[in-house]
Amino acid sequence: MKRTMSRFRIVSKTAMAPGVTRLEVEAPRVARKARAGQFVMVRADEHGERIPLTIAEKDAERGTIAIVFQAVGASTQQMAGLEVGNRLADVLGPLGKATEARRYGRVVCVAGGVGIAFIYPEIGAFAEAGNEMVSILGARTKELLFYVDEIRRLSAALHLATDDGSVGHHGLVTEVLRGLLEHGEHFDYCIAIGPIPMMRATAELTKGYELPTLVSLDPIMVDGTGMCGGCRVTVGGEVKFACVDGPDFDGHLVDFDELAKRKKAFLEEEERCRLEEAAEELEESDGGSGGESR
Ligand SMILES: Cc1cc2nc3c(=O)[nH]c(=O)nc-3n(C[C@H](O)[C@H](O)[C@H](O)COP(=O)(O)OP(=O)(O)OC[C@H]3O[C@@H](n4cnc5c(N)ncnc54)[C@H](O)[C@@H]3O)c2cc1C
Ligand code: FES
Repeated sequence: MKRTMSRFRIVSKTAMAPGVTRLEVEAPRVARKARAGQFVMVRADEHGERIPLTIAEKDAERGTIAIVFQAVGASTQQMAGLEVGNRLADVLGPLGKATEARRYGRVVCVAGGVGIAFIYPEIGAFAEAGNEMVSILGARTKELLFYVDEIRRLSAALHLATDDGSVGHHGLVTEVLRGLLEHGEHFDYCIAIGPIPMMRATAELTKGYELPTLVSLDPIMVDGTGMCGGCRVTVGGEVKFACVDGPDFDGHLVDFDELAKRKKAFLEEEERCRLEEAAEELEESDGGSGGESR
């Protein structure tokens, strides 16, 4: 008899923001073991590619985890089209090192865009460790912010920033952080998660204040288990693999230039593959029509 192909049933689906979907998935073993900062490699179906997604929430009793993702390409768009009752082919994890959520005192968390999905479990872990949390969340516009109420509940203070000024500070999250630091607010630790330029700008700012800063890196990952080398990053002059040594690293030591270049190199490769595939399809269809006309 044929074995059931997949176990990972989707039990709830929520639209968090335009283009951002939350799926709650049955994965009891992952839910039991997962800690803040860890991720899963997910495959929508047997033919799909594995993509890394942060474990945004877990519920060990229900045996579920939640992933929150932005539909940016083929795999995430396919997953966004799944409905309650559908199953994912694979949910491999938990992977990566869990964040060391120690008691530092006053912790400022800065997140931009889908980085909010990465930082939410970290805010929970640091709050649980007894830290006073100050959170700064940013997005292009008000509608793209999510987990705002949940993060407000975990934070002593919450600041919002939008590029279009539709809510909170009209501008960047780093400007909010700069304002707080310049006004003499004291922090013992900083966590910054979001696009590379945002994490880099935060790390450069906090370096001047000698404020230790944790960032979560999202290089291209293929296997997620330290075997392929795809996620190589340089931290403090040493080669690290983000999937096993991270994804959290000391932001003051990360070589952001290299990270940005490597991600861009893959972009060019992806584009070349897409163009080659399109050309092959065109050739096949030309060949096909030629055959029919003969
Ligand atoms: C540890 C980690 C945790 C992540 N967590 C989240 C999350 O919680 N929510 C979320 O929205 N996104 C997350 N990402 C990014 C997410 O993996 C990519 O958006 C996704 O792989 C895009 O795949 P795609 O086929 O839809 O798009 P594609 O068109 O294939 O790619 C779009 C862009 O996504 C990135 N990307 C593509 N493939 C990979 C890959 N295998 N590994 C890493 N990045 C890739 C590249 O920057 C690429 O240009 C995480 C990445 C890492 C490394
Ligand atoms: S994803 Fe292959 S080594 Fe990290």
